[in-house]
Amino acid sequence: MSPRRKANARASGAPRTRSGAAASGDTSPSPSLAGKRILLGITGSIAAYKAVELLRELTKRGARVTVCMTKAAREFITPLTFEVLSGSKVLLDMFASVAEETAELGPEQWTGRTPGQQPVHTPGQPSRSVQHIDAVADSDLILVAPATGNMIGKVASGIADDLLSSIIMAAGGKVAFAPAMNVRMWENPIVRANVERLRSLGSSFIEPESGELACGETGKGRLAAVESIVRAVEALLGEEKPLSGVRILVTAGRTEEPIDDVRYISNRSSGKMGYSLASVARDMGGDVTLVSGPASVEPPAGVRLVRVRTAGEMRSAVRAGASRADMVFMVAAVSDFTPVGARKGKIPRETGELALEFRRTADILGEVGRKKGKKLLVGFAVETEDEVRRGKEKLRKKNLDLIVVNNPLIPGAGFEVETNVVTLIDRGGRIERLPLMSKRDVAKEVLRKALSLKVAAPRLVKPAAR
Ligand SMILES: Cc1cc2nc3c(=O)[nH]c(=O)nc-3n(C[C@H](O)[C@H](O)[C@H](O)COP(=O)(O)O)c2cc1C
Repeated sequence: MSPRRKANARASGAPRTRSGAAASGDTSPSPSLAGKRILLGITGSIAAYKAVELLRELTKRGARVTVCMTKAAREFITPLTFEVLSGSKVLLDMFASVAEETAELGPEQWTGRTPGQQPVHTPGQPSRSVQHIDAVADSDLILVAPATGNMIGKVASGIADDLLSSIIMAAGGKVAFAPAMNVRMWENPIVRANVERLRSLGSSFIEPESGELACGETGKGRLAAVESIVRAVEALLGEEKPLSGVRILVTAGRTEEPIDDVRYISNRSSGKMGYSLASVARDMGGDVTLVSGPASVEPPAGVRLVRVRTAGEMRSAVRAGASRADMVFMVAAVSDFTPVGARKGKIPRETGELALEFRRTADILGEVGRKKGKKLLVGFAVETEDEVRRGKEKLRKKNLDLIVVNNPLIPGAGFEVETNVVTLIDRGGRIERLPLMSKRDVAKEVLRKALSLKVAAPRLVKPAAR
């Protein structure tokens, strides 16, 4: 029995809702482009200045960006801006850069070079003269933004007469163009054919927008909004999102059942397992609602958070949320008993011996199971003995598709720790005992297993494409 913590000091009332905003240590989202290497090619369009904002947005999301500018692009904006913002040298002309670098290196670093001779590369040393190949080898994506009609035409025709077009020709992987040009150029059948040819060869296009153009005309040809380009890049480089469009309800944390206005009974659940599950489901593209009782860790950002305190509040929130969910994961440690008639104020010590009467709380998991419909239902259970038999029984009684059983008495498992040891039992009787692993990895395994089960929930059968 412990005094109610201020943060949770709500004796009654409806569950509070907010969009998760607090970051939370291990459950916070990683930047969407963390570790991705992008070569940003800038060509000679009036929209070249927008590449400044684009570069900032890409780096803000964790991408490492190298900029390459065509000669025409440098008529519109100087490389210095990009050098400062990207923190690395801007790639310019193929031959000029070789001359520059060899001058920087000094003759002793080039075998057999005497003043006036062409540089000769030392075998075994990295070559300095093939930066268009190095740039490609280093990149997850080549993004040409803005892309001129000229550059699109050159690439479609197999011309590589400058550094950027050479880089693109050498690229085996992903290339995306964000065109920007006058509407008549964009509608020109030659440009249309070039775009189609490149598309058919695997390049992506981030369509220009319609509106007033820099030249004063109106029509399609304006560079796509920076936000749209970034989203397209995220989609091109992002991890698979198997839960895209899937509505997921997760319960987490513990409940607190009041004895009086300052005391309650509860359990030792920290909320870590449920929060990890909500966080991984969000990262897999799920539309996550997290119904949480008190917990010891911060909830993940980017989920719809419904805070509850008691088993009764948890029941109301789950009832409200479960009907619209495609997947329900009941991870919360809901109190099985609640004191009968919580007293007003503080029961005085002078009362002497105190006997409390408890009644059983509602079986929330069982209720969801009875109205399961086509949703996928996963329950978490704590069992300290005969886990498999008891787990199987619970799975059947509560109409679950999957049950995750853990025994907190096993070292590294259960409440308050960062790791867990669980056994997965599915409807078909298949049993998977997972080794000791982090709760985040357990969450991934549970979601993998859940996705492998054939259930009829419409968005699971046919996940909405993004
Ligand atoms: C003021 C001005 C604005 C231009 N804007 C564009 C443009 O938005 N899109 C385009 O395709 N070409 C535009 N051009 C033409 C290109 O700069 C020209 O085709 C150049 O050769 C492109 O070279 P690059 O593709 O190597 O960068 C513009 C030219 C000028 C002088």
